[in-house]
Amino acid sequence: MRCLLGFLGAAAWVLCSSGLSAAQLDGKPVPIHRISAKHCKECHQDIYRQWKGSMHAQSTALSDPIHGAFYRMVVGDPTQEGVTKGGKYPVCLKCHAPNAARDGTTKLDAAPAYAEGVNCVACHTLGTYHGIQGPEGKMRLGIDTWTLSDTLLGPNGFFHEQGEAAQRLRVEYEESGDLNPHLGRDNQGKPYMSEEDVQDLDLPLAPNPEMKTAAACLGCHDRRNNPHGVSLCQTGDEYLEGGSRETCQSCHMPVAGGVVNHAMGGGHDLAMLRRAVKLNLHAQSQGNQLQVEVVLENLQPHNVPTGAPFRNAYLKLSALDASGKVLWTNFQVHPAKEDPQAFLVYTLLNDQDQPAPPPKATKPGMDTRLKPFERRTLSYHLPAEGVDSLRAELYYNLLWPALVKKLKHLPEALKQPKRMAWQELKL
Ligand code: HEC
Ligand code: HEC
Ligand code: HEC
Ligand code: HEC
Ligand code: HEC
Repeated sequence: MRCLLGFLGAAAWVLCSSGLSAAQLDGKPVPIHRISAKHCKECHQDIYRQWKGSMHAQSTALSDPIHGAFYRMVVGDPTQEGVTKGGKYPVCLKCHAPNAARDGTTKLDAAPAYAEGVNCVACHTLGTYHGIQGPEGKMRLGIDTWTLSDTLLGPNGFFHEQGEAAQRLRVEYEESGDLNPHLGRDNQGKPYMSEEDVQDLDLPLAPNPEMKTAAACLGCHDRRNNPHGVSLCQTGDEYLEGGSRETCQSCHMPVAGGVVNHAMGGGHDLAMLRRAVKLNLHAQSQGNQLQVEVVLENLQPHNVPTGAPFRNAYLKLSALDASGKVLWTNFQVHPAKEDPQAFLVYTLLNDQDQPAPPPKATKPGMDTRLKPFERRTLSYHLPAEGVDSLRAELYYNLLWPALVKKLKHLPEALKQPKRMAWQELKL
């Protein structure tokens, strides 16, 4: 039996999820993790639309071209059963296809709830968070870090069959003709949903206030190492070490239009990228030289770029004459060698100190990404003659330049740099 402990005023209450009836579809019990997001869409239309456009809905090898390329390389075909990684169940699925992982299957097209990846029920069944550090130093990953519930969990829950809030909701939704399925059954065991209700779905819901905190994200977003113990992503570690009290939700799930936004943008989302860094450009003339400073300030409690190790960004600085002709730039082809300070990147190396792809790296290389809340100044000296204006642009890339070359078949949009911040200064 799984229980949730809560405090209301001076009284503590305990709610055990097995005290609620299980989810039912057409009158038959159905494992909660096999309920497709399509069922939730009937009522939660805005949230469904936002989620559908997010990387969470694209998280499996069937629908994310970048993850798919790696998955096929290091694991295998996502439409086959019994695919293993070194004889073991592929860990990737514990985060990228959590509902399939709950059933121990690797055939991701076998059910909509598997193919949907991180869908509604994948997140709304995550109970107590236990952290990624398992016993004997072994790391827990994805769904193994939470106690999983067999009923839905929400940030508030409802007062089951009693209390003012439940009464109010019940009356509201009965009057509107839209019955709330999360209230479960009445005292006679009759579902609150009517016969003709959209899906004849009964979905009891219990509260988990931790859903308002980073605990709702960290099991999948804290850290992951490759088989050689080299850290690949560490967004959660970056955040925890920074000691910020800001929640992930405050930025990634803002309230807009009356709902908690589920679009959860990151590196794939230009609007999100544009909020990440404050950029300031200053210039001073010194004889026939210009002394230029570009100040980059990370506004996040995690690195920028954060997440997958191949995310990177670079600064391009240009000096222009009055006609807009470019007189000078900080690099010609790429800053990696020409202006290393302008390249924000985490590199991975092999034993020969050569760059290595994530599965093969044996040690971390340099890490020049902006640390949480870091303010960094890049300085330049350039010839002042004819310069009328300066332009600083910060570009973001989902992939390292070498991977862009290697994964030729990827859609163009995933290979193009995105401009995340810029400023022009007229001298
Ligand atoms: C990646 C995890 C995740 C996914 C996927 C997800 N949710 Fe949520 N959802 C959350 C979290 C976390 C909250 C609590 C946010 C808060 O209160 O700060 C939440 C809140 C909600 C709420 C309450 C909103 C409110 O006004 O308080 C509803 C309703 C909801 N989700 C429905 C859905 C539906 C429907 C889907 C699928 C279309 C879905 N969620 C997918 C994590 C998720
Ligand atoms: C028949 C309509 C209907 C369906 C279908 C439905 N919901 Fe809801 N849900 C509601 C109503 C009504 C509320 C309460 C009002 C609100 O918060 O918007 C609610 C509230 C919630 C909440 C917020 C609870 C809280 O703690 O604040 C979550 C989370 C949620 N639903 C998740 C889901 C998920 C996941 C699915 C699909 C598996 C789903 N719902 C399907 C009608 C529905
Ligand atoms: C069950 C695991 C799981 C949970 C829980 C989860 N995520 Fe995710 N999240 C993923 C996976 C997997 C991806 C990557 C999908 C891909 O790119 O293939 C992702 C992608 C993202 C992205 C987009 C990254 C990009 O490439 O654009 C953001 C932002 C994000 N998650 C934020 C959150 C936040 C905030 C929470 C908590 C409210 C959360 N996630 C909870 C697994 C999870
Ligand atoms: C102050 C706002 C803010 C907070 C708080 C915040 N983020 Fe972000 N996050 C952003 C912005 C802006 C980006 C886009 C820039 C980037 O990718 O570095 C981003 C990017 C991401 C990405 C995308 C990585 C990728 O590979 O594309 C993930 C995942 C993510 N955040 C997870 C989290 C988690 C988990 C938390 C809480 C522990 C969190 N964020 C807290 C603003 C925030
Ligand atoms: C602990 C959870 C977890 C595990 C296990 C995991 N991933 Fe991920 N993965 C994520 C999250 C979260 C993201 C998206 C945010 C980010 O970039 O950190 C992601 C992103 C990715 C991306 C980038 C996707 C994109 O759209 O750019 C690739 C590629 C990837 N994972 C491959 C894999 C492979 C292959 C495995 C198994 C060998 C795996 N992952 C295992 C959580 C995980």
